[in-house]
Amino acid sequence: MTEPLRLGIAGLGTVGVGIVRIIQKNAALLEARSGRPVVISAVSARSRTKNRDVNLSDYDWEDDPVMLATREDIDVFVEVMGGSEGPAKDATEAAIRAGKDVVSANKALLAIHGQALAEAAEEAGRVIRFEAAVAGGIPVVKALTEGLAGNEITRVMGVMNGSCNYILTRMEDAGLSYEAVFDEANQLGYLEADPELDVGGIDAAHKLALLSSIAFGTQVDFDAVELEGIGAITIDDIRQAADMGFKIKLLGVAQLTGRGLEQRMSPCLVPDTSPLGQLQGGTNMVVLEGDAVSQIVLRGPGAGEGPTASAVMGDVMDIARGMRLSTFGQPAKTLRKARAARAAVPAPYYLRMQLLDKPGALAKVAHALGEAGISINRMRQYEHGDATAPVLIVTHKTTQTALDEALADFRATGVVSGDPVAIRIEAI
Ligand code: NAP
Ligand code: HSE
Repeated sequence: MTEPLRLGIAGLGTVGVGIVRIIQKNAALLEARSGRPVVISAVSARSRTKNRDVNLSDYDWEDDPVMLATREDIDVFVEVMGGSEGPAKDATEAAIRAGKDVVSANKALLAIHGQALAEAAEEAGRVIRFEAAVAGGIPVVKALTEGLAGNEITRVMGVMNGSCNYILTRMEDAGLSYEAVFDEANQLGYLEADPELDVGGIDAAHKLALLSSIAFGTQVDFDAVELEGIGAITIDDIRQAADMGFKIKLLGVAQLTGRGLEQRMSPCLVPDTSPLGQLQGGTNMVVLEGDAVSQIVLRGPGAGEGPTASAVMGDVMDIARGMRLSTFGQPAKTLRKARAARAAVPAPYYLRMQLLDKPGALAKVAHALGEAGISINRMRQYEHGDATAPVLIVTHKTTQTALDEALADFRATGVVSGDPVAIRIEAI
């Protein structure tokens, strides 16, 4: 019989149990497709006695994931514990030193230590694969690394955090405040143990940094992602954006310009009729643009047991079939250090502010925009009962620098109450 591919699985939570279930249920199918059995030798988690609702009796148990990673009877170390440091990092490094291939769902680990891990793996002749780390069940790493390998990639963007998309769409559908929907999502278990990873945009920025590296042949640089979460978005923003024909999304955008690599993860407005605008609930969507292919849109479940385990198994099957791809699509040593650039590509902006209701207030704001070289496309003032009037302005394309200048001038006018909200409108 052909030699089986033997796995050691570290982590038996949502994703780990999903992997075990797929291997148990689809064993014949996996063997037929790869030409060899795919088996589990041993597993590891914190608690050996926890009921996980899956039969683990055929597998050896290791308390220590580092011991699991270095066992002689495993070929592939599957890391589904999580965390950028500690056991996940120690065990992944140990696995590489011990000559194992690695499959990981851990975006935090790879976004921070991906370059060093990829270099170590490639020096040892091993592979690290991480499809599940980006957009759950969507095979976006494969699409970029393989299907689009002949393209110069011009832009990568998408909604890559299901929890934030759930919060934003639920706010709009139910007319609820951010705080109310945040609490609801937390109670339903939709948010990470540290919710700031989701709503602060950090989880999505990890994913964007990983895709940027593959797309542009650059070393993964999470620290260079311009980051803004969804915590300041109000139900008024969502309603008024809808009124102007837009949806608000936590959108990641990466592009290489003459000034360097722009990576930003921030709330953006997208046309409500666009594929991104139509995205509901926890679903993810990634848009890839290349010089030959033009644009492709990938949509699917970004999290959960089945989708994430499905992505892990895609990587495992590649290894079982003998496919040996570089972690970031080209040898790690050839990845360039990108010059990080602040997003400078001009875009229209949505501005919302409260204006003191007195003669000349609007003129002062329009003047500040004009002085910064910003042209107004559309403007709306809402019916109001108190001393301030809600005003929305959609600008023509402008730069972040010009916008910052105008926002600073707004404060000096003395007619803008509080901080104006400014959200970029992304062309897709
Ligand atoms: P989870 O449900 O919290 O499970 C984590 C597992 O790791 C648990 O079984 C835990 O053991 C084990 N573990 C934690 N620390 C350990 C240690 N020091 N030694 C041994 N085992 C340890 O997490 P998850 O949702 O499955 O996520 C796993 C990874 O996949 C993370 O990197 C996550 O970012 C990534 N991911 C998850 C999803 C998703 O939808 N869940 C989607 C994409 C990517 P106990 O069970 O004994 O506590
Ligand atoms: N917290 C993540 C999300 C889970 O909401 O998309 C998958 O990475």
